[in-house]
Amino acid sequence: MPKPATTLHWITERAARHGVTLLDRVEPNAEEDRAGLVAGIFGSPATIAPKYFYDGLGCALFEAICALPQYYPTRTERAILTARRDEIVRATGTRKQLVDLGAGDCAKAALLLPVAQPRRYVAVDIAASAIRPALLRMAQAFPGVELFGVVTDFSRRLDIRGAIDYGPVTFFYPGSSIGNFTSDEALLMLCRIRELCTSGSGLLIGVDTKKDRARLHAAYNDPLGVTAAFNRNILNHVNAILGTDFDPSAFAHVAFYRSEIGRIEMHLEAMSTQHVHYDGTERVISAGERIHTENSYKYAPDEFRALLQRAGFADISLWQDDAADFAVYYAE
Ligand code: AVI
Repeated sequence: MPKPATTLHWITERAARHGVTLLDRVEPNAEEDRAGLVAGIFGSPATIAPKYFYDGLGCALFEAICALPQYYPTRTERAILTARRDEIVRATGTRKQLVDLGAGDCAKAALLLPVAQPRRYVAVDIAASAIRPALLRMAQAFPGVELFGVVTDFSRRLDIRGAIDYGPVTFFYPGSSIGNFTSDEALLMLCRIRELCTSGSGLLIGVDTKKDRARLHAAYNDPLGVTAAFNRNILNHVNAILGTDFDPSAFAHVAFYRSEIGRIEMHLEAMSTQHVHYDGTERVISAGERIHTENSYKYAPDEFRALLQRAGFADISLWQDDAADFAVYYAE
């Protein structure tokens, strides 16, 4: 179907047989994105935004990370959502619209749906390849729920017009993805969500906590090298977008916890001098030079409560596992 030539182009695709409505809200910002990517690569220190991890292979590698014994956040959050589901749903209420931010395979929302019984489920993700099949599975598992998918980069703009109505919404933002933003960016994201909260709406969000350095280190330096492959694969994705010639095998995965600022940092370190070409220019990356690919902030409950309050949320509930490894908040 041809795309209308509006600034914010969008196409609606109704998978009528399955009752799933898919809205494509990826803004035509390819040039701006490329410019940001090039500036990061040519900058010093070099940076690549973590959203570029998630091409097809990157999504599959992230799923594999979530299954690693060392990567506790996914499994711990799932355990909290399962064990405390009734209490959580008492706080969020039932029969609302459930908007799943960064839905991926929709697996976490699928834990809540049988109890929360939303009248509408909206999966929001930058990766159409992930939510399309996931929504078709959701259609089979939850035949009474109206299903929408919105393909958008919600880190730029949370545009879910047409997918929600004026009724109350539970925004669901699991996985501690908020930790991949700086605290200013995280605040902005929380404010954007708060702005969309009409009466009876709220935010259910999963956030990783600060903890022992060794455990954090192990979670981002797994012995199978899955996280290393995930990190290196960002260069394949950049090559596909920009036509650069990064050699992922020439870079070492580096991940460490900086307790003074409460974040894991991931980098790619050149193991020998690299000559990377882009559009007739060359970026020389010296041996030992690093490309910063990700921050993953960890929040103590007091810190995250304060952030929620600064975003305008007042009534805040918190659920944790016994070891306090992870936190799930509901805020209105
Ligand atoms: C998606 N995000 C919350 C993950 C994290 O832990 O920051 C991404 C990740 N990076 C390395 N392992 C997992």
